[in-house]
Amino acid sequence: MKFLCGHENPVQHVCHVLVIPCFENSDQESYFSQVDEQLGGYLTALYSRKEFTGALNKVKLVHTLGKISPERVLMTGLGKRKELTADKVRQACGAAAQALRIPGVCTVGMLLPAGVEHVRSAVEGFSLGGYSFDLYKTKQEETVGIETVTILCDDKVSSEAVEKEIGEAEAIIGAVCFARDLVSQPGNVATPSYLAERAVEISGKYNLGYYIWDREEMEKHSMEALLAVAKGSHQPPKFIALEYRGGEEGVAPTVLVGKGVTFDSGGISLKPREGMEKMKSDMAGAAVVMGTLMAVAGLKLRVNVVGLIPAVENLPGGAAFKPGDVIKSMSGQTIEINNTDAEGRLVLCDALHHAQTYQPSAIIDIATLTGACVVALGGFATGLMGNDDLLKRSLEKAGQATGERVWELPLWEEYGELMKSDIADMKNSGGPTAGTISAAWFLKNFVDTTKWAHLDIAGTAWEEKGRHYLPKGATGTGVRLLVEYLRNSVAT
Ligand code: BES
Ligand code: MN
Ligand code: ZN
Repeated sequence: MKFLCGHENPVQHVCHVLVIPCFENSDQESYFSQVDEQLGGYLTALYSRKEFTGALNKVKLVHTLGKISPERVLMTGLGKRKELTADKVRQACGAAAQALRIPGVCTVGMLLPAGVEHVRSAVEGFSLGGYSFDLYKTKQEETVGIETVTILCDDKVSSEAVEKEIGEAEAIIGAVCFARDLVSQPGNVATPSYLAERAVEISGKYNLGYYIWDREEMEKHSMEALLAVAKGSHQPPKFIALEYRGGEEGVAPTVLVGKGVTFDSGGISLKPREGMEKMKSDMAGAAVVMGTLMAVAGLKLRVNVVGLIPAVENLPGGAAFKPGDVIKSMSGQTIEINNTDAEGRLVLCDALHHAQTYQPSAIIDIATLTGACVVALGGFATGLMGNDDLLKRSLEKAGQATGERVWELPLWEEYGELMKSDIADMKNSGGPTAGTISAAWFLKNFVDTTKWAHLDIAGTAWEEKGRHYLPKGATGTGVRLLVEYLRNSVAT
């Protein structure tokens, strides 16, 4: 999908569909009446008959029967004018893209309220909403796919300004779709070795530093918690590091840690069969970290960022770790395993400990960590916990700006009670209550006094139904959030 900037009169713009963002039952932008007049008041008639109200994410496709150059018009609702936000523009454009997954729609003209202000959100929403993962579909269906989208601006807006916004949006979209593709890949393809290969590929393309440790090197570094999880699988584990230095030399980096469990069967504490296939997405945190580094490098942000990815497969093989085992983590703290399905925290704890060798300004980990987080927040918010208020507030702010909202849960000391072990420093699972918090409490033990935040994307990494700019499947949630956070961190 290619985005262009145009200054033509919309009624004379030759395209298959003209997208018209519309407000809910209120004054419309001037482009609305321009098109409406040429169509003999058809658009206002739809409003007065309540066939279209302009409610957020509602769309209406109508044919223009040769009255204007666009063959069809797609009205997409923005909601109330007074309540307009960047994310609503993103959503309305995402809903438009989803409605246009029909044969014969290749060229699109797009109108936007205000000047250059909403271009980035519109481009993001439209391309993310139009995303699909078709790699394994071999039967050629009728070609669906939008080739060009021309953003039609009035003369006050310069092409350069619009093109700059398009360029930035494209760097971010590329990274989100990279993460979505990786998460959509089946577990037999996206193994730890595959993640490592893709990381090497990215490092070449974006000139990032990297290293990849195999089992032997992890053993040398005593990453025993990580290695314990890997024992039940024939897939060799990988510890992947990517380094981007866009900031001043010597400025402490932000370290991002992404859970890379390429398939989570639960191990010996086997998961139920229903829905187990979804656990190919248990490496979404890893995908987000890779995508974020791509975007940050593509945008040439003046920041130092390190991405760490512990990548393993959690299977119940003959050599698998077992309930009752005691493991010494890289930090020296001992862990009694009472549930092999609480494996995410085990791979993360060694990565978090290793993260400190960078003397980072902050550590942010991102992980599909707990089913409890899906229960608590559903797909509408990412769980946020951490040990630093400023860091948490910055992530909340980035969540508001990007629409990838986060919601804080408390991380009080009392929750540590749930994780007490009779024979080791802690257990790896705290039982049925407060599952998201007890998991975060576990992680907290491995970051010492470094500023740290934990993002639980178990509910947000995968969209069950499909809505606005999140088609059904992998969402890439976290990439835009972290890029925005890092972008803001430059100024401070
Ligand atoms: N990968 C899962 C968490 C998950 C569940 C992600 C559903 C996405 C959707 C994680 O490894 C896990 O199994 N967590 C357990 C922890 C429990 C054993 C303490 C869980 O949430 O049940
Ligand atoms: Mn698990
Ligand atoms: Zn898992």
